[in-house]
Amino acid sequence: MSDKIKLPGGHELPKVGLGLWKIASDDVVPTITAAIEAGYRHFDSACDYGNEAEVGDALQQVFQKGEVKREDLWITSKLWNTYHRAEHVRPALEKTLMDLHLDYLDLYLIHFPISLKFIPFEERYPPGWVTDPDEPHPHMEPVSIPIQETWEAMQELKEAGLVKEIGVCNFNCSLLRDLLSYAKIPPAVLQVEMHPLLTQEKLLRFCNENDIAVTAFSPLGALSYFSLGMANPGESLLEQEVINTIAARHDRTPAQIILRWGVQRGTAIVPKSTHPERLRENISLFDFELTEEEMASLNDLNENRRFNDPGEFGEAAFNTFMPIYE
Ligand code: A2P
Repeated sequence: MSDKIKLPGGHELPKVGLGLWKIASDDVVPTITAAIEAGYRHFDSACDYGNEAEVGDALQQVFQKGEVKREDLWITSKLWNTYHRAEHVRPALEKTLMDLHLDYLDLYLIHFPISLKFIPFEERYPPGWVTDPDEPHPHMEPVSIPIQETWEAMQELKEAGLVKEIGVCNFNCSLLRDLLSYAKIPPAVLQVEMHPLLTQEKLLRFCNENDIAVTAFSPLGALSYFSLGMANPGESLLEQEVINTIAARHDRTPAQIILRWGVQRGTAIVPKSTHPERLRENISLFDFELTEEEMASLNDLNENRRFNDPGEFGEAAFNTFMPIYE
C-alpha cells in the first residue's frame, strides 16, 4: 500500500501526518524535529491551535539543517471561523504564512462550517471561539455568511498560487453536496473526526464517490479528549479487547492497529504525539496488513461517538448552543 493519497489535481498527500493541535509552544520544536527524524513529511496546523509561530520556527530550523526541503513537506493549515467574510480570507492566510515562514501552503481548509464575528488580528490572535473572553459569560457571536462567499475567496487563494489545494473540515454530506453545486474548484480534502467509535461510513463513501480525499482527525479516538473533560473513562480504544487481540496477533501496539485501520480504509490520519517513540510507532503502519475480518471487527466497534462536537462543547465551554451535525 502506498503511503500517499493521490489527489485529483496530481498532488500527493502523505497518509500519516502529525497533528499539531494541543502541542504546547515549548514542545513544538523538539516534536517537529523528532517527527522529521521519524519520517513525517505531513504537518497539520491551524490558526486556532495557537502555535503556528513556533511551528514556523521549527520548520526554519529543519530547513536550515538541510534534512528536508520545503517541497518535501506537506503543510496544511485552516481558516478560522472569524475570517469567513471574503475580504478576511486572504489576510488570514497571509498571517498564517507569515507565522509559518512559508510562501505557500499545500492545503488550506475551512476549519468549521461556523461563521463568527470578525475580530481584528491586533485585538486578539488567534481569536478563539468567543467574542469577549473577559465578559462574565463569554459567548460566540455567529454571523450570517454564505459558505459560497468564503469558498470563492478560498478559490482565489489557489488561483493566486498561495495554496496548492483547498478543502473543508467538519462538513457533512449535505454541506458538501451544496458546496459541489457551485464550486469552480471542488474541495480536494475533507478533514473530519474518524476512528473506530465514529466510522462515518456513508460520509467516507460519499467522498470516495466525489473524489474528495478524507483526513481523519483524532484517529485514536478518545485519548486527546480525556484532559479536556470531553471523554468518559472507559472510552479509550487502547483497552478494547478486540483491538488488543488483533495487536497481539500482528505483534503491534493497539495504537498501530487503530491507525492502520484508518489508512487501510483509505483515509489520511493526523495523530498527535509529543513522544518520539510514539511518533515512530504511529507512522510504522505500512509493513503489515489487517485481514478483511479484522477490518470488519474494527468497523463493528462503531457507536457514532463524536468527541469533538460544537453542539456539545459550544454550550459547555462557551455558553453558546451551536449544533452543526444535526
Ligand atoms: P501524547 O502526545 O502524550 O503522546 P489526537 O487525538 O489529537 O491525535 O491526540 C492523540 C492522543 O493520543 C494524545 O493525547 C497523545 O498523547 C496520545 N497518543 C498518541 N500516540 C499514541 C500512542 N501510540 N500510544 C498511546 N497514546 C498515544
